Amino acid sequence: MRQPLNIIGAILPILVILAGCGNAWSPSPTLAPNQPNGSSPLASAMVAMDAQLVQTLDAVMTDSSHSWEGRRLMSHDFLALAPTAASMINGHFEAQAPIYHLAIEQFNASPSAKHYNEVVASCTQCHLGTCPGPLDRIAKREMREDGS
Ligand code: HEC
Repeated sequence: MRQPLNIIGAILPILVILAGCGNAWSPSPTLAPNQPNGSSPLASAMVAMDAQLVQTLDAVMTDSSHSWEGRRLMSHDFLALAPTAASMINGHFEAQAPIYHLAIEQFNASPSAKHYNEVVASCTQCHLGTCPGPLDRIAKREMREDGS
């Protein structure tokens, strides 16, 4: 029985790193800004982006009229930030980063539930081809009610 255990021991750390994409031991989504030592600039920007979505959704839901007016999202230049591993910056990443940026611009020009969800979709699209670990977490950021 030694052999299978050794194999699991060798594979598990790799799986955990893939699942977390750089922040493997974070047990659950944290709502407060979370920049543990050792996070790459790109991972820190992602955590900040995720926190912005949480805050925006929360602000809309607690607003008595669920208004999107005046909401803004700060964009990050993901292409300029260093990742945990160079392999994360593949062709898919480079193609998706400008789409994410456009989705944020569209939201800021005309904030609505629809445009907010397009930002979340741009997160999902990039993650599908670069870093699937946070996909479940990103799915929770979607605005499901008709709040526009
Ligand atoms: C252009 C591609 C791309 C887009 C767009 C993108 N991500 Fe990421 N995301 C990544 C990559 C690559 C990593 C791994 C970064 C690293 O470890 O350096 C990552 C990491 C993360 C992480 C894990 C951070 C950690 O703790 O290590 C979260 C959470 C995350 N992204 C959420 C989001 C959200 C929310 C959005 C949309 C607002 C988004 N991402 C948009 C590519 C993208």
